[in-house]
Amino acid sequence: MMSKVEKLTERLQGIEIRKKSLGLKASVGGIGSTTAVSERRRETTSLEDKSLVYGREKDKEAILQLLLKEDESVSVSVIPIVGMGGIGKTTLARLVYNDERIKGCFDPKLWVCVSDDYDVVRVTKAILEAFTSDANKLETLNMLQKKLNEKLSGKRFLLVLDDAWNDNYADWDVLRRPFMHGAPGSKIILTTRLRNVAKITSTLCPSQLAYTLNELSKDECLSLFAHHALARPNFDAHPHLKEIGEKIVNKCKGLPLAAKTLGGLLRNESQQRVWENISDSKIWDLPEQQSNILPALRLSYHHLPSHLKQCFAYCAIFPKDYAFDKGELILLWMGVGLLPLSTEKKQMEDFGSEYFDDLLSRSFFQQSSAFESRFVMHDLLNDLTLYIAGDICFMLDKLVGDKQIEIPEGARHLSFLRQRFDGLQRFRPTYKRQHL
Ligand SMILES: Nc1ncnc2c1ncn2[C@@H]1O[C@H](COP(=O)(O)OP(=O)(O)OP(=O)(O)O)[C@@H](O)[C@H]1O
Ligand SMILES: [Mg+2]
Repeated sequence: MMSKVEKLTERLQGIEIRKKSLGLKASVGGIGSTTAVSERRRETTSLEDKSLVYGREKDKEAILQLLLKEDESVSVSVIPIVGMGGIGKTTLARLVYNDERIKGCFDPKLWVCVSDDYDVVRVTKAILEAFTSDANKLETLNMLQKKLNEKLSGKRFLLVLDDAWNDNYADWDVLRRPFMHGAPGSKIILTTRLRNVAKITSTLCPSQLAYTLNELSKDECLSLFAHHALARPNFDAHPHLKEIGEKIVNKCKGLPLAAKTLGGLLRNESQQRVWENISDSKIWDLPEQQSNILPALRLSYHHLPSHLKQCFAYCAIFPKDYAFDKGELILLWMGVGLLPLSTEKKQMEDFGSEYFDDLLSRSFFQQSSAFESRFVMHDLLNDLTLYIAGDICFMLDKLVGDKQIEIPEGARHLSFLRQRFDGLQRFRPTYKRQHL
């Protein structure tokens, strides 16, 4: 053991000598400067403000018209909003859901995040939970559906099913049964990336099966980008950055998520050279088949300071749409040694809090709309963490069903969602893995 430590020390000393001879300096790795990123000014709270949604007036109007239209041919109308990931479907649905004009038109109003692990029981339970905390006591689908039917029967309700992926008609047919007894005029807004999901659920006329959400216009995208990069929706205070800003925005192809993340990356960075670095990066031209990660997101990660890269990648332990708590994540980072040791002036928790706020201000995290004090990652950013972390982080919940479970040898961090009855059997696959 001793000799191993000695060898290691020797290697480190060698590196130290080479570092000096090459004139390398310690840096946090942030774009364009070596000053600690944590010292920069940041604004974190106003970003989720409704007034900061750019464009979408026409889209909002169109959906509102569909909501307010009396359609006598069906008891419950289903309005699918379709568009690619990060284009703003959830944002649009939220805008409509909170609009003054539908206040008083629907009771109850319910919002349920369906996400990719769709299963009829879970979704039914989630809808029911909006009414009663007793949903957990109901075991079978039959019990859940009967209760939900009771709650919705005769009511003119509005339900948003956000982020649906399942295009199996049989599943949809079962899921929708309790909705059928709602009062006429009840509506369901369903957001999805998949046109097939719209096909099986829509009650709109066949010529317009779904509301297709398109890219933002160039100007809207530019304002959104400038808002995140310069804290105002224009370049008036930084005219020298306008041209290069436009170039970057062109590469975002009207995708708000891309414009927002890149804006966050360049936040408070006024050196033209740094902006040019982003615009000219080779990452834009990497072949897409290497991964499904958007170049804009990959680029944002690439330019994170290294201490934030590690902390962000660690978030691969979170399941999609998981709403996490700031303090809890900081404790997890502390637990796995991702934060600097406390100094006289600063506790480890203070470093964690700064790192967290920095990731939030760069739009890697965003405030949860369901729980005010919690945070979520956009699902494309969640995909990015999985891509970066590779085998290192592993979610036990991925391994459902009867499949033979194999945790990768390189796994270091494992997470699982607690179930009602967790037997030791569930953790058997971890026995072989010594480095977890
Ligand atoms: N018009 C807009 N103005 C400002 N920000 C926007 C706008 N549209 C979307 N965004 C921001 O872009 C990000 C992606 O939007 P959103 O989550 O609505 O996309 P989505 O289409 O629902 O994606 P997914 O298919 O992955 O669910 C969000 O952080 C949102 O705040
Ligand atoms: Mg969405």
